[in-house]
Amino acid sequence: MKITVVGAGAVGASCAEYIAIKDFASEVVLLDIKEGFAEGKAMDLMQTASLNSFDTKITGTTGDYSKTANSDIAVITSGIPRKPGMTREELIGINAGIVKSVAENLLKHSPDTILIVVSNPMDTMTYLVHKITDLPKNRIIGMGGALDSARFKYRLAEALEAPISDVDGMVVGAHSDTGMIPLAKHATRNSVKVSEFLSGERLQQVVEDTKVGGATLTKLLGTSAWYAPGAAVSALVQAIACDLKKMFPCSVMLDGEYGLKDICLGVPVILGKNGIERVVNIELDESENAKMQESAGAVRNVNALLDN
Ligand code: 2OP
Repeated sequence: MKITVVGAGAVGASCAEYIAIKDFASEVVLLDIKEGFAEGKAMDLMQTASLNSFDTKITGTTGDYSKTANSDIAVITSGIPRKPGMTREELIGINAGIVKSVAENLLKHSPDTILIVVSNPMDTMTYLVHKITDLPKNRIIGMGGALDSARFKYRLAEALEAPISDVDGMVVGAHSDTGMIPLAKHATRNSVKVSEFLSGERLQQVVEDTKVGGATLTKLLGTSAWYAPGAAVSALVQAIACDLKKMFPCSVMLDGEYGLKDICLGVPVILGKNGIERVVNIELDESENAKMQESAGAVRNVNALLDN
């Protein structure tokens, strides 16, 4: 199983590290445009192999896409991260051109690969990849909801004072500070609705803290987060590589599901060897559905910027 990660920055390198430590891939290729950067990160990571007990071979290359040939899965993390106070959408001007070129180069050498898009604004970048390639929709996956759901579970466990392994929750909608929808009514503590333990006010605070989870970290770190994004990507890669049929909220091209067409938005999907095995239509109540339509409207406005 060969995995390529484009962008050897913090997110890409963390993703490569987690994939290696899980040891399900034979090879991970890290690619960056900065001279020697991917090679250095790969070498540093390989020097943890004996300490972290993995046999996955990590190599790095400076812009040589031939080294990524025949990748089963390719992850696009390249582009600029946001600075404190920025929205993910403000990155579109620079990142759209980068993502377009990266996707085209990857597919030149790995026409059968499954693409995972991480670069922001992620829902629009995922949509862009659909528009510039003729890949079937099951092979283009946007990573956002898996990360947002991890942050939702973190906030829920904190509020519940419960171990995170007891908590389940999902975030759908756009991977944006205003468009993501933590499904509070569906969240559980070991199969019991969290509303049994938390007041409506406290649960709403969890929802609001989740929505700005990325921005909160950007303020603290001075740049975008990387550990949880890297871990979320590695979980999607593993589900595909190992054909786990695992369910995650991912940004996928919708064709009528949730009453939406011609847009990429976070919805629950089953991931396996074919990438998106199927989209899962969960029952949303009136308010959740209204939020979904509103989230889609905001993403469509950002998608429209691609025409420029
Ligand atoms: C985040 O939310 C980078 O969009 C990513 O941290």
